[in-house]
Amino acid sequence: MCGIIAYVGHREVRPVLLDGLSRLEYRGYDSAGLATLADGKLDILKKVGRIAELTRHVASKPRTPAFQGISHTRWATHGEPSDANAHPHADGTGKLVVVHNGVIENFQPLKRKLEAEGHLFASATDTEVLAHLIGKAYQAGMEGSARRLSDAVRTALSGIKGTYGVAVMHEDFPGLIVGARRGSPLVLGIGEGEMFLSSDATALLPYTHKVVYLKDFDVTEIRADRFQIESMTHDTADYQVEELDYAPDAAERGAFAHYMLKEIHEQPQTLENAVRGRLNGEESSAQLGGLNLTPAELRDIDRVIVLGCGTALHAGMVGAQMLENMAFVAAETDFASEFRFKNRPLPRNTIFFAVSQSGETADTLGALREARRKGFRCLGICNSVGSTIARESDGGMYMHAGPEIGVAATKSFVSQVALFGLLTLTLGRMRQMSASTGSKIIRSFEKLPDQVRKILAGEEHIAAIARKYAQANSMLFLGRQYNYPIALEAALKLKEISYIHAAGFPASELKHGIIALIDPATPTVILCPQDSLYEKNISTMQEVRARKGPIIAVATEGDEEIRHHADDVIYVPRTVEMLQPILNIIPLQLFAYHAAVALGRDVDKPRNLAKSVTVE
Ligand code: G6P
Repeated sequence: MCGIIAYVGHREVRPVLLDGLSRLEYRGYDSAGLATLADGKLDILKKVGRIAELTRHVASKPRTPAFQGISHTRWATHGEPSDANAHPHADGTGKLVVVHNGVIENFQPLKRKLEAEGHLFASATDTEVLAHLIGKAYQAGMEGSARRLSDAVRTALSGIKGTYGVAVMHEDFPGLIVGARRGSPLVLGIGEGEMFLSSDATALLPYTHKVVYLKDFDVTEIRADRFQIESMTHDTADYQVEELDYAPDAAERGAFAHYMLKEIHEQPQTLENAVRGRLNGEESSAQLGGLNLTPAELRDIDRVIVLGCGTALHAGMVGAQMLENMAFVAAETDFASEFRFKNRPLPRNTIFFAVSQSGETADTLGALREARRKGFRCLGICNSVGSTIARESDGGMYMHAGPEIGVAATKSFVSQVALFGLLTLTLGRMRQMSASTGSKIIRSFEKLPDQVRKILAGEEHIAAIARKYAQANSMLFLGRQYNYPIALEAALKLKEISYIHAAGFPASELKHGIIALIDPATPTVILCPQDSLYEKNISTMQEVRARKGPIIAVATEGDEEIRHHADDVIYVPRTVEMLQPILNIIPLQLFAYHAAVALGRDVDKPRNLAKSVTVE
């Protein structure tokens, strides 16, 4: 949801900014821009469209070499995608520029006030209002005592409501960039004689592994050889320099056609990384060091509520079922965006899990804060180390899945489900789960990576089925119990990247209305493992068949019977029922991917989406 990259140092800045923007492009890609400062003069270049458009624009004529600049890739909130609305935005003097990720909620009254004072605006954005406010504070400061650019930034930000990650430059301050954050992520990268600001640490991997995750209300000044961090709310800002433990090529696409495909293929390692060091064979349990709860506290949990959005919520839905069925803990999920405005009476020993790949989703963060405000313990399940949700949680589990760049989440989903499996093992073994059940789950976990490899080896068969149905206008996905969230997730994947209308339902709901949609042009994907509900799923398939609906079944390896009921069958290996969703989603990720490719879609940058939605 908008990406910022800023640089000051010894390199020619434009290639650094353009490279950084392309790494952040998953955050938004409807327009992009950059501003450089050289010889005391700002040069602003902006273009509607992808980073490639901006790159062409930058290359279109020779420019004075510059060694500092700020840049932005946009996911429109206020104002349509256009050159004028692209960032950076300047103040009235044209000497100050701002890039911004977030939303300024009170920008309209602020804009009216500024207009009454004679300010003229060139765009429809909230960010331009911020630029004028900083410019105005700077002018006032010049006449008063505050001479620093960062003071003007602080003054302006203190009057706004909303969220921001910003980077600011001024012609009067060569060699300086000011950054600040509240609610939107901003990471400071520390190099040798060079400094960076970025919305995401992974964009910095080619340049440095040394970072500081800025906190809300931090204001930083960066120069080539030094940085300074202050807090708008505290006398001193405490910060930690951290070392990123990613390989330098962790965020590269390599030989894969798309990041999404690469990430689908990484899932065997994703599972290994999620589980590594966390299985305890001796006790037939799991060990989760980061929960920050004593065994007594874990035993006392009466209820678990899992919060998240999109894919993360679907993973939570699988998790809640595992916890109830296998760990005997009451568990449920809610849309983070809904929960935060509810007022539910809950038992004191309720514990919350906020699930978020990015750790920055505004709805999930808002729900986490609401639950904590009411005195509940909240744990995070995040991928991005140091992200806001990870930091604001009382404890939790990191996914260790490595950067996920494809906008459609894949490996983060299997990682999240695996972590819920480990949590179920831990809580279950403290309750009625037997040692033999615990051991069986552990053995199943150990087999999962190879089972995923086996599914991936069958990619061509899945791709052929995807191509066969890619012209459909609408598809249905059905599953029961653990596989109902898989139906939702598979439908979401297809919608997100192919733009084919798709919807997931509990299989049995078919007859309660959905069946009206069945016709020869509407394929139904049914998750039909050989489990306790197998026969019921076969009945559902017959109901679809009777209405001439094409059927694609995801079935258990060796199930020959299913061929009599489905037009196409995708086989997956068998595992314990609670982990089966991990295997079942893999072919459907590939199905969505290949349907989208067949339709010529931009898989890694689907229209209108952003990977990390930092607005509410
Ligand atoms: C957005 C993305 C989804 C993602 C959801 C939650 O809506 O488009 O793909 O599942 O946010 O993201 P998170 O980072 O919190 O897991």
